[in-house]
Amino acid sequence: MLQGKSLIDPMDFSVQELNEIFNLAHQIISNPREFSHVCDGKLLATLFFEPSTRTKFSFEAAMMRLGGKVLGFSEPNSSSVSKGESLADTVRTVSCYADIIAMRHPKEGAAKVAEMYAEVPVINAGDGGHQHPTQTLTDLLTIKTVKGSFNNMTIGICGDLKFGRTVHSLLKAMSRYENNKFILISPNELKIPDYIREEILQKNNIEFMEVEKLEDVMGSLDILYMTRVQKERFFNEEEYLRLRDSYILTEEKMKLAKNDMIVLHPLPRVNEISNEVDNDKRAYYFKQAKYGMYVRMALIAKLLGVV
Ligand code: CP
Repeated sequence: MLQGKSLIDPMDFSVQELNEIFNLAHQIISNPREFSHVCDGKLLATLFFEPSTRTKFSFEAAMMRLGGKVLGFSEPNSSSVSKGESLADTVRTVSCYADIIAMRHPKEGAAKVAEMYAEVPVINAGDGGHQHPTQTLTDLLTIKTVKGSFNNMTIGICGDLKFGRTVHSLLKAMSRYENNKFILISPNELKIPDYIREEILQKNNIEFMEVEKLEDVMGSLDILYMTRVQKERFFNEEEYLRLRDSYILTEEKMKLAKNDMIVLHPLPRVNEISNEVDNDKRAYYFKQAKYGMYVRMALIAKLLGVV
């Protein structure tokens, strides 16, 4: 039963509950009109303390396509946060006006705090370098739709694995499916945090290897998940400049990959995928962004208990 729940961490929902969301997303994709009024009279608040294009717009589009309405901010200085109001008081107040909250915040753990004080379901739309569970729903719906399964795959995850919250959430979520192997491709400075390696991968006996060169492993991958080196997470600009172009996926490198490998990316991209790759039939990252709207429609409808 998902009604009334919050989504803060990808493990908050069981595999069965995730399947309910993906099944509903597929029903919405097949017949969007059937769902175009299920949220009539409902309000979504989007509290974005950090910039966003996909997550914010897809949440807003999702609610509007379900018949609901949206309020919120993308510039926290336009709210009473700029006067020193605490996060707890902000979400308590917003709970008085909205039926559900989607929040992005630069601090790890902020979504959990919001959940503790809100009177309505809270959806974590990204908390610092920690977790981004609705990006993971997006990634999983894309994988399910394109590959037909969550099992028996070799998944390469490339780029900033240290600060990449989408990577942390995806590894957590995929660790529950069977017989997957992860190849973690990053410079030494941007390897996955120890808690992900120990608590998620080693503890669950998941096969993984850590490498530095993308070309060496391209031919073995079923999925390549590219990520951006995130300037906003670095304390030292020199270090960012040194690492930002560690990986650039080109058509030359795509020649090394299987014909049915798919390329995913949570976006935004900067330099890590050349524009020429966009025309490759294996490039799925813009379709993935669209699946993000459908899966958020399904998530909102389930948490509000309107379907
Ligand atoms: N994937 C993602 O979170 O993109 P935005 O930062 O544009 O929301």
